[in-house]
Amino acid sequence: MSQHLFSPFSMKGITLRNRIGVSPMCQYSAEDGTPNDWHLVHLGSRAVGGAGLIIAEATAVEARGRISPEDLGIYKDEHIPPFRRITDFIRKQGAVPGIQLAHAGRKASTYSPWKQRVSGVAVPDEDGGWEVVGPGNTPFSKNHRIPRELSPEEIADIQESFRLATLRAREAGFEWIEFHAAHGYLAHSFYSPLSNQRTDRYGGSFDNRIRFVLETVRLMRKEWPEELPFTVRLSCSDWVEGGWTLEDSVDLAKRLKEEGVDLIDCSSGGNIPKAPIPVGAGYQVPFSETIRHSAKIATAAVGLITHGMQADDIIRNGRADLVLLGREMLRDPYWPLRASQQVHQRDAVPVPPQYERGWN
Ligand SMILES: Cc1cc2nc3c(=O)[nH]c(=O)nc-3n(C[C@H](O)[C@H](O)[C@H](O)COP(=O)(O)O)c2cc1C
Repeated sequence: MSQHLFSPFSMKGITLRNRIGVSPMCQYSAEDGTPNDWHLVHLGSRAVGGAGLIIAEATAVEARGRISPEDLGIYKDEHIPPFRRITDFIRKQGAVPGIQLAHAGRKASTYSPWKQRVSGVAVPDEDGGWEVVGPGNTPFSKNHRIPRELSPEEIADIQESFRLATLRAREAGFEWIEFHAAHGYLAHSFYSPLSNQRTDRYGGSFDNRIRFVLETVRLMRKEWPEELPFTVRLSCSDWVEGGWTLEDSVDLAKRLKEEGVDLIDCSSGGNIPKAPIPVGAGYQVPFSETIRHSAKIATAAVGLITHGMQADDIIRNGRADLVLLGREMLRDPYWPLRASQQVHQRDAVPVPPQYERGWN
C-alpha cells in the first residue's frame, strides 16, 4: 500500500504517528548549554501541534563545539534532567523526542543572530568567545576565527565527547538521534575537499576525508540502543565546483548504512560562504530521492517544504520517508493540523481536547 503524509512510520522499535518532523533549529536561548522553559515551550508546543517527530536543535557535545555562547549543550551530566523534562512532555503529546548532536568546529564562537547585525561574526575572548578548531587552519570566512588544526589525539578526544553525549542523550529520554554532519560544521569540514587539506589519514582521499564521520558514528552507534533509530544529517552538496557532490553523498550513505545508520537527513550547503544555492520550493528533495533509491536507505527531505499537498506528494511518490519542516514550523506550530485539512484528511491529526473548540 502506498504511503502518505499521515501514514505512521515505523523504524526499529519506534513508530512516528505521521511522516512530519520538526527540523532541528537553534534557539540561541540557553546558558552554559542548559535547556530551559523556552526550549520546553518551543519543542513542546510543536509536539502539541501534531508533528510525529521533534528534533531538538544542534546540541553541542563539548562547550567549544557551540556555534554561539547561547547554544544548547549536552557536555555534562547536569544537562540531563532539564532535557528529561522536555522529552517526557513531548512523549506525553504522542510525539517522538529527537536530538541533534553537534560540534561547530571552525564555525564556533560566533554571536547569536540577534546579538550582532551580521551573522557569523566571531565572539572575541573578552566577550566570552573561545578558540575554535578544525581539520586545518583556514577560517570559514573573514569574520570567523582562525581555527587551530586538530591533532589525531585531539580528534579522538572529540569523538569521545560524541560518545559520552550519546549516552547522556539516551539517559535524557531521547528516542531518535541525529549526528550533525552538515552545514560546514566539524564533520562536514572533514569530508569536504574544500575545507580539508590534511595530509594524514584524515585528509586527502575520499576514504580519508570520511574517516572522521565513520569513526565517530561507529563509536556513537555502539552506545545507542539498537532498537532506536540512529540518523545522520549530511550536506549532500557544497554547490561549488570541486566540492562535495551528491555522488559522494550516495557513497557515504552506503558506508553509513553498513555502520548501522538507519536514515539520512538530506540537507546541503553551509561550508562555503555565498555558494550559489538554487533555493526554491523543495530544492533539496532530489538529494533525498537519489540517496533513498541509490543507497537503499531511508531518508528525510528538508528545505522549503511548506504546503500539505507538497509534503504529501513527496511521501506518496517515494522521494522520502519523512519530511522535516523548519521555518514553516516557526510560523505555525499547528502546521500538521493545517496540512491534514489541506490534503482532505481532517481526522488524521488529533486536536488536543483542550483546543477542540478552536478547530471544530
Ligand atoms: C532559526 C533556524 C535555526 C536552525 N538551526 C539548525 C540546527 O540547529 N541544525 C541544523 O541542522 N539545521 C538548522 N537549521 C536549518 C533547518 O533545520 C532546515 O534544514 C532549513 O531551515 C531548511 O528548512 P526550511 O526551509 O523548512 O526552513 C536552522 C534553520 C533556522 C531557520
